[in-house]
Amino acid sequence: MRRKLVVGNWKMHGNLNSNQILLESLIDGLKDYKNADYVVCVPNIYLFQARSLLENTNISWGGQNVNQHEQGAFTGAVAPHMLTDLGCSYVLLGHSERRVLFHETNLTAAARFDAALKAGLTPILCVGETLAEHEAGLTEVIVASQMDAVMATLDEQESAKAMQLNMAFAYEPVWAVGTGRSATPEQAQSVHAFIRNRIARRDAEAATHVRIIYGGSVKAQNAKELFAKPDVDGGLVGGASLNAEEFIEICRLAN
Ligand code: PGA
Repeated sequence: MRRKLVVGNWKMHGNLNSNQILLESLIDGLKDYKNADYVVCVPNIYLFQARSLLENTNISWGGQNVNQHEQGAFTGAVAPHMLTDLGCSYVLLGHSERRVLFHETNLTAAARFDAALKAGLTPILCVGETLAEHEAGLTEVIVASQMDAVMATLDEQESAKAMQLNMAFAYEPVWAVGTGRSATPEQAQSVHAFIRNRIARRDAEAATHVRIIYGGSVKAQNAKELFAKPDVDGGLVGGASLNAEEFIEICRLAN
């Protein structure tokens, strides 16, 4: 049995005051849920606040991206050790907004994945097709290429480390992110099973453990059916993670 994982992706939202209200509600609302893992990925500037409020709770925190370099002249970038310095255990990588709006590629996702592993961060690799790719029937081709770009660069030791750190995949069809139009539970299940089979071709044992979470307009209202699918191991929640009541309900459904 895989433990479910629910990750809130705050994107570029929040301020000191609203974060404090939201986090305090989450701490209180989630304190009795012991059967799943809960994470919030907050803007880097608020990681210190997340750490001071979430330390010694059952909620972990993480970054929404990380740079592949250790240090240097990379204005505006954040290195993996900076995230671990602030107590992050997770980091999102290859989110579609990073790919589309910031021109990140499979290559940068692979380099960042590697750097995150070295720092001991649990990477959550986001994959997913655009609407045009979806309509052209290219979902599996795109998802496979995004997975392979990262997995193929890992040697045996790094793969073992990724599994040890409990790396996760997030299937996020781009047409479902922030649009209010979620994939159906059946569509999600089919792609999640595809992802798991592809991992199994490399490592059958790892494939049974790795968590594959779904993202794209997850709400309290559709989470139950999505989470009921055998290969959907939780959710990556954007908009609905900014509403305490809604996010707590999603977490309850995963519990
Ligand atoms: P959404 O975002 O839940 O607002 O669709 C999901 C994500 O981008 O991770």
